Amino acid sequence: MTSSTQKKLRILSGVQPSGKLHLGNYFGAVKQHIELQEQGDCFYFIANYHALTTIQDAARLVENTRDVALDYLALGLDPNRAVFFRQSDIPEVTELAWVLSTVTNMGLLERAVSYKEKTEKGIDASVGLFTYPVLMAADILIVRSNLVPVGKDQVQHLEMTQDMAGKFNRAFADIFPIPNPRLDKESKVPGTDGQKMSKSYGNTVDIFAEGKPLEKTIMAIKTTSTPLGDPLEPDGENVYSLFCLFATEDEKAQLAADYRSGKIGYGHAKKMLKAKVDAHFEPFRQKRKDLAKDSSTVEDILREGAKKAREEARKTMDLVRKATGLAS
Ligand code: TRP
Repeated sequence: MTSSTQKKLRILSGVQPSGKLHLGNYFGAVKQHIELQEQGDCFYFIANYHALTTIQDAARLVENTRDVALDYLALGLDPNRAVFFRQSDIPEVTELAWVLSTVTNMGLLERAVSYKEKTEKGIDASVGLFTYPVLMAADILIVRSNLVPVGKDQVQHLEMTQDMAGKFNRAFADIFPIPNPRLDKESKVPGTDGQKMSKSYGNTVDIFAEGKPLEKTIMAIKTTSTPLGDPLEPDGENVYSLFCLFATEDEKAQLAADYRSGKIGYGHAKKMLKAKVDAHFEPFRQKRKDLAKDSSTVEDILREGAKKAREEARKTMDLVRKATGLAS
């Protein structure tokens, strides 16, 4: 890395390998991750160590990891511009997590909302789930990131990372920049049932769905049972809201007017939505198919990315080991 690129903002984010990405992921996170490639040195990785807190099925973890990688690469993640890797290819991150855990108070982790929510739901928490934020801090700090694009639900984890970085720096040496969150666009992407689109609600429209399955998903979007010809209210309506994610201002205004005048029914609006989804993702679909054809392509890209990330990770760990007295 040259000294001029080193001055650029270092951006890092991780994505859990929870399977195929959906429109909520796309408009909330992926699209911005890809745009950020222009603005800094980006590190993006697939958080498979984290996924072990929920997935205990090797074949599924491998498949999910590959799916997320294919989705990101097809959607424009450029491995020549961003460092793209699998978390477990950087084992140094678990070493840093241990060191950070020694400057992390139990009380801090006990206040984690995502952990509390899970235990309140009755999930039997593992130590790994409890220390999830420490591993996440290690992900961020191991490449000494400045900026971390995340959704609102992850901001508290970022604050914890800031706390750990500050504590480490004060106790040992000023190694870590204090990273800041960059809030992903508040994604108002309704699922097919009108709740927020989420894998756990089973209401997703997958980015790479197409043909009959896509049609079936879109036709099943929940609507009111207004008779055809009666006026419809576009504001907050599921099909209209999804259509707006893809449409120009004129197209949005036109569809809203057609809803209100009773000129259009949900069936027709759903067809228009499907056409939009098809037009938007068509170029990426072919790319995904091409990438998927050869199983070694994705693997090679992830390995190459890991090499670069690991180089940075080793530099950081050398400093950490010296500063703490783990190495002399
Ligand atoms: N916890 C994040 C999520 O569930 C994923 C993640 C793991 C992450 N490590 C990270 C995000 C580091 C940003 C930075 O979405």
